[in-house]
Amino acid sequence: MSAELLSIARARASHGPQEAGSEFQQDLQRALAAPPHAISPKYFYDAEGSRLFDRICELPEYYPTRTERAILAGFAAEIAECTGTGGDLVEFGAGSCSKVRLLLDALRPRRYVPIDISTEHLEQAAAQLEREHPGLLVLPLAADYTAAVRLPPPLAGAPRIGFFPGSTIGNFTPAEALQFLRGAARLLRGGGLLLGADLVKDPALLHAAYNDAQGVTAAFNLNLLARAKRELGADFDLQRFWHSAFYNAAQQRIEMHLVSRERQDVTVGGQVYTLQEGEALHTENSYKFGIDGLRALATQAGFRPGPVWTDPQRLFSVHWLHAPAE
Ligand code: AVI
Repeated sequence: MSAELLSIARARASHGPQEAGSEFQQDLQRALAAPPHAISPKYFYDAEGSRLFDRICELPEYYPTRTERAILAGFAAEIAECTGTGGDLVEFGAGSCSKVRLLLDALRPRRYVPIDISTEHLEQAAAQLEREHPGLLVLPLAADYTAAVRLPPPLAGAPRIGFFPGSTIGNFTPAEALQFLRGAARLLRGGGLLLGADLVKDPALLHAAYNDAQGVTAAFNLNLLARAKRELGADFDLQRFWHSAFYNAAQQRIEMHLVSRERQDVTVGGQVYTLQEGEALHTENSYKFGIDGLRALATQAGFRPGPVWTDPQRLFSVHWLHAPAE
């Protein structure tokens, strides 16, 4: 089901002009009111959404997390040959700083700068890491890493090594991915980026990963509506929506949608929107990459691609992308 099919989410003012509301409210109203009926996946991640995502990472069907962890653990020494030791390690979207733990012994960075939008989560994780690694300077940075980030001043003699695991790059549009990589190549000049990217594969495996038997991914998707109820007072009835996730081979991406099971009116910020049976709100894209395609994108962004590590089934890839000094 494509988001383009959501054609009749017409806004009707029910209570006269409303206040503009939060960014979430504005984006949700825009998505309901007119094509392309799509909203950023960043709204999945309130406390409940982050908890559900952590559960997804443990699911038997969701291969990316355990596969990437195995690659990082198994090739840490080879990775360190590319990054060198004693660098200034910067992680984009660090969350609970769990994957970096697999690299610290091999990379022995002088400083670790985890960047994340969620301050509380980040500070706890950073404090814990500092306790575990006494000598390591941890400098958490609460920021939106998709915007221009101001890093702490460089450390003399310590090249900046970026770390962007989890194939989060796949949740960007291709234009956003290029923009992110361009910014990273500038920020990491003289060092490089260690990037995790999910690979194109048998669509049946992809389908299973986003349609798990326990329904955790469905709950994660539906949490967007639950969050709108909690934060915006919206009146969504979650029972009246289906979770839909499918592989769009032409676009090389998993798409997630919330599909209306029946004709219904929903109210957000005092505005009523009519959804027809089968109409969908497009909530996420998760692009999958070919190794050559990703290297070409990185080259376009100003990196010089180096070694790539994969698992034996070639499910997932980890790339070293050197950022030339000039
Ligand atoms: C965070 N991101 C890389 C996940 C993905 O696979 O695109 C988010 C996710 N969506 C559904 N399951 C996991």
